[in-house]
Amino acid sequence: MFNTNTIARFNQLETPFYYYDLNLLSTTLQACKDAADPYNFHVHYAMKANFNSKVFDVIQSYGFGADCVSGNEVKAAIQHGFDKGKVVFAGVGKSDKEINEALDQQIFCFNVESVQELQIINDLAKAKNKTASVAIRINPNVDAHTHHFITTGLEENKFGVNTWELPAVVEALGKCTNLRFQGIHFHIGSQITDMDVYKNLCTRVNELQQWFEERGLPVKVLNVGGGLGVDYNNPDQNPICDFESYFKVFKQFLNIKPNQEVHFELGRALVAQSASLISRVLYVKNGIKKNFLILDAGMTELIRPMLYQAYHQIENLSREPSGENTNPDLSIPNSIKYDVVGPICESTDCFRKDVDLPVSYRGDLIAVRTAGAYGEVMASGYNLRDRVQSVYSY
Ligand code: LLP
Repeated sequence: MFNTNTIARFNQLETPFYYYDLNLLSTTLQACKDAADPYNFHVHYAMKANFNSKVFDVIQSYGFGADCVSGNEVKAAIQHGFDKGKVVFAGVGKSDKEINEALDQQIFCFNVESVQELQIINDLAKAKNKTASVAIRINPNVDAHTHHFITTGLEENKFGVNTWELPAVVEALGKCTNLRFQGIHFHIGSQITDMDVYKNLCTRVNELQQWFEERGLPVKVLNVGGGLGVDYNNPDQNPICDFESYFKVFKQFLNIKPNQEVHFELGRALVAQSASLISRVLYVKNGIKKNFLILDAGMTELIRPMLYQAYHQIENLSREPSGENTNPDLSIPNSIKYDVVGPICESTDCFRKDVDLPVSYRGDLIAVRTAGAYGEVMASGYNLRDRVQSVYSY
């Protein structure tokens, strides 16, 4: 929801841009901390969700760790002041260069995704006369009940070590003298809103930690990944996730031993609601079968709808929300169904079809809500577009 001052400010600005509500961001971060701290849970921010410098600095100021998936993310996290001792490095394809740089930084832990990777990290650490801390990312074959494009914890997914390969992991760990086994890591998918999914994950984590302990490998860290979903349908009613219920599930269903640490890697839940993509209507094309609103933002600014059929609420900020028709001339409708599309030369460049919106005009401001996670970071320069700008709340 935007107040009139904010909309007046938008009217002065060139579009498209991401608008970041830094107050909502701070409130969200605080809510997450307040829910995690009583249990002593460690939260790493999954920086892939958004590494806008300002956003990133605010997150750093709350003392979260950083969950990185590339060498550049590791570097950026450290440059932005994240504690090296709270940096984890995941990713199914870490290059030798990335591993070497992370070894030099003495990060907290590598989340290792295959037996071969264990051996490579060991060799590279040995060459530097260092010991690398590792956690084994296990593919637990737990269904995240989310969109199949963002499911990661099933056997058909490329991530993690499958359970039948675990004996080979134990054997490799026995031989790799330059590795320190820290624990086990999981991440089963993103935009998970069903807490039963996490209960199932806890059951698998409990079985697997026991399996390692029985083989003489004490599990110090249980890293259960991220994935907590947000309410894309009702951003104003539910701007902050129910972190309390989320963490409570893990407290209740994980077998947490004394001296064991539980780690999380939350991305979307911390940043998604804090930003909207603001654009203008360039053209209105009213046809017989279809009405199109052609925006000055498209898949180059926010690709989620096109890539994952993701739903984002779309609002016309320049008109009253469409409700009952109050127009004295009832032949003029109050709202129309539009296909809201971008300017890119691709038919898939459509934010959503048949969106009910007030009758809209060239120059109207359109907000695409809940765009703070996997929005700006996934922007591209396709069609040689300008880099999307960012604007921040005061
Ligand atoms: N940890 C690992 C190992 C991950 O791969 C991810 C996300 C996270 C944590 C953070 O997950 P989150 O809490 O944000 O759900 N671009 C897609 C989402 C891709 C998620 C990739 N991995 C989207 O826009 O929906």
